[in-house]
Amino acid sequence: PIVDLTDNVLTARLPSGDSVTVYLYGAHVTSWKTSNGQEKLFLSTAAALDGSKPIRGGVPLVFPVFGPPPKSHATSKLPQHGFARNSYWEFLGKNSSESLGRKADDSVKLDFGLSSSMLDEGVRKKWPYEFGLVYSVTLSKGKLDCQMHVQNKGNEPFEFNVLFHTYLAVKDITKTAVKGLKSSPYVDKMREAKTFTEESSSLTFESETDRVYTPPTGQGNSLVPLVVTEGGQDSFVVTRDSLPDVTVWNGWVDKIKGMGDFEPKDGWKRYLCIEPGTVSSWTKLEAGDAWEGGTAYESKL
Ligand code: BG6
Repeated sequence: PIVDLTDNVLTARLPSGDSVTVYLYGAHVTSWKTSNGQEKLFLSTAAALDGSKPIRGGVPLVFPVFGPPPKSHATSKLPQHGFARNSYWEFLGKNSSESLGRKADDSVKLDFGLSSSMLDEGVRKKWPYEFGLVYSVTLSKGKLDCQMHVQNKGNEPFEFNVLFHTYLAVKDITKTAVKGLKSSPYVDKMREAKTFTEESSSLTFESETDRVYTPPTGQGNSLVPLVVTEGGQDSFVVTRDSLPDVTVWNGWVDKIKGMGDFEPKDGWKRYLCIEPGTVSSWTKLEAGDAWEGGTAYESKL
């Protein structure tokens, strides 16, 4: 694989032609292309790429809080979705597939790190815990795998949320559906954040959708994969590891109209956020302990 880091932007390309771009600002994946050159992530053409605000599109990282922080929680002073997406991470290095026991050049694993000592002073004061994050992005043919490792390096426990706020590129949201959510309880932010149960085996989109699903586990307590379909054809398979929740979000016409950094304005038609995470309850990490979870997106088209 060819890996290049220039001006805080890392690009990696496999001999198959699959490629990924990661900004150190937010350790933010802004592009994932498969070997046929198809872009699999939606990125706003008005996204700020200069570190002035979180990047709109791609894979924003959410840590240590999802959404607006609750008033009575240790994260209460942090911005919406926390600080991971607006902090500069460091590139820790690459591992090519040989070391993962696969044929050389089949995949590349890119590791990024963020620790409490790297945060801006102001942010540290707002959430004064000692932590270390290692985010691993593994690119293989037709697949993007995102894993997060969280370590408590301090002397007291802390609570966190993690979520991968992925903007998948779709051709037409009105012809897009999500399978694998039937019977799942979900909190609907469009309906006073009340809880409902999904009845459809194929969730379609007709208006703004903003829900946090906690799908029932499958055999052996496994997390069931979700399948995104476009025009009836499978387009993405989303698998999860230690991430019980999935936010499904599309802002539709009006919400997107009000977002200054979302362009083009009809871009609402061409993205769907499928956001695996652990957000419906806090994950508590004792001093010295570590946690790991992640998700993988496989392109089927
Ligand atoms: C989603 C939330 O995950 O993120 C939405 O459920 C929110 O409510 C969206 O609008 C975008 O958030 P932000 O902070 O990136 O504008």
